[in-house]
Amino acid sequence: MQILHVCAEMFPLLKTGGLADVSGALPLALGKQGADVRVLLPGFPAIMDGLNISGEVAHLHCFAGDVRIVFGYTEQGVGVYAIDAPHLYARGGNPYQDGNQHPYADNHLRFAVLGWVAARLAEGADPYWRPSVVHAHDWHAGLAPAYIAAVGHPARTVFTIHNLAYQGVFSPADFSALDLPAHFFSVNGLEFHGHLSFMKAGIYYSDRVTTVSPSYAREITGDEQGCGLDGLLRDRGEALSGVLNGVDDSIWNPATDSLIVSPYSAEKLSGKAKCKAALQQAMGLQENPDAPLFIVVSRLTEQKGLHLVLERLHEITQRGGQFALLGSGDAQMEAAFRVAAAENPSQIAVKIGYDEAFSHQLMAAADVIMVPSRFEPCGLTQLYGLKYGALPLVRRVGGLADTVVDCSLENLQEGIATGAAFDVFSGEALTQGIRRMFALWARPKEWKAVRKTAMSCDFGWHAAAEQYLQLYRAIGA
Ligand code: ADP
Ligand code: GLC
Repeated sequence: MQILHVCAEMFPLLKTGGLADVSGALPLALGKQGADVRVLLPGFPAIMDGLNISGEVAHLHCFAGDVRIVFGYTEQGVGVYAIDAPHLYARGGNPYQDGNQHPYADNHLRFAVLGWVAARLAEGADPYWRPSVVHAHDWHAGLAPAYIAAVGHPARTVFTIHNLAYQGVFSPADFSALDLPAHFFSVNGLEFHGHLSFMKAGIYYSDRVTTVSPSYAREITGDEQGCGLDGLLRDRGEALSGVLNGVDDSIWNPATDSLIVSPYSAEKLSGKAKCKAALQQAMGLQENPDAPLFIVVSRLTEQKGLHLVLERLHEITQRGGQFALLGSGDAQMEAAFRVAAAENPSQIAVKIGYDEAFSHQLMAAADVIMVPSRFEPCGLTQLYGLKYGALPLVRRVGGLADTVVDCSLENLQEGIATGAAFDVFSGEALTQGIRRMFALWARPKEWKAVRKTAMSCDFGWHAAAEQYLQLYRAIGA
């Protein structure tokens, strides 16, 4: 079975969030199970620079000018087609926005081309390799199923929603530039409240729709989390399902992680104490093994619920705990966290920015990782937290609800607790969660038992890869 994944980012070439972790790991996991997998990416500078390009596959002319498809391998040995089109992709910084955090004005063209090239590969633009399934991710690749439908469905299509909140909605005036059949601009198509929606195209035209956790798959069929697309998602019925993301063990494993100060495992935890001491020192926190260290590693956006953390930081510090954050995004939130750290530097430390190595060091040092999201399609940092023995304190929503077991008395008794979860999206509910973590911390034997259970959870990619393969087979690939 030949599978082509289509997406905008891929770890380690280019990453702005969890999507890249998924597209970096899933092809490898599918490959381990015998599938023949390749990835199609826009030729952003980081992608062109990071690939070991072996040659040109095709030179095509489309509505957005000339594009070259080149082929190469990542360091991990995954075959990648990149769209070499400097006029679309050779721009510094973020793949989606300019330096002022404004989406590029031609994003409809930049990402339509991604879907269009996927359709050309499905039709056989590479004479040596042709996909039987095209698996598109998020709105950036949402037009792939539409372009494939427009030419008679030369491949089966799967569309995965990583985050329904970002939809790729453009002006109706942009439609004519995209070279799609005129009747596609309709309610039964990619028209969305008079505009055109790449996300809707992916949901409407693909054979199957998945999202990255079973709970989120249910939540998005409701009014509250459906972002206006819940009706269509309900209509898709059985064609919509949830497949939980995994953790790439070759990157996130405290026993082999070369980015952390000292390796450790569930059986031998002395290295974790060294990681904590080193981090406290590096961030200017008081060096104290007895102070539970709460962390956040996150994009600072509305989704992640971090204003609740800001509001309740004192609940951690007044109980003798510490807090460290690595994140970037919303300027006001960045400033507010900086102020909190300046006011109490021995207990609160903040690093604004994006730093892959430091995210591993924080995870290794932490006792608790906080993910109090308003909504969360899957969430990966709580999974990394489990693996690194940083107990997740999460809101019970989306993938967080599917992966963290609260340390209630009955769950403790049964030995299945891995963290703490609260229901209501409020500061008060977060405080209850913080209190529960401190109550557990005060019982070291039980804390250690919960940490051991957490570290033994198996969220490997093999389970997701198996489910995707079943899905591809079910649609006749
Ligand atoms: P989302 O994709 O919504 O941002 P996820 O939890 O799925 O949330 O994935 C986030 C990914 O980005 C994780 O790999 C996390 O470690 C990483 N990450 C987030 N913020 C930072 C940061 N400031 N520095 C380094 N890594 C970060
Ligand atoms: C999105 C979601 C996140 C998910 C990630 C990878 O960015 O916000 O919850 O883990 O995609 O699927």
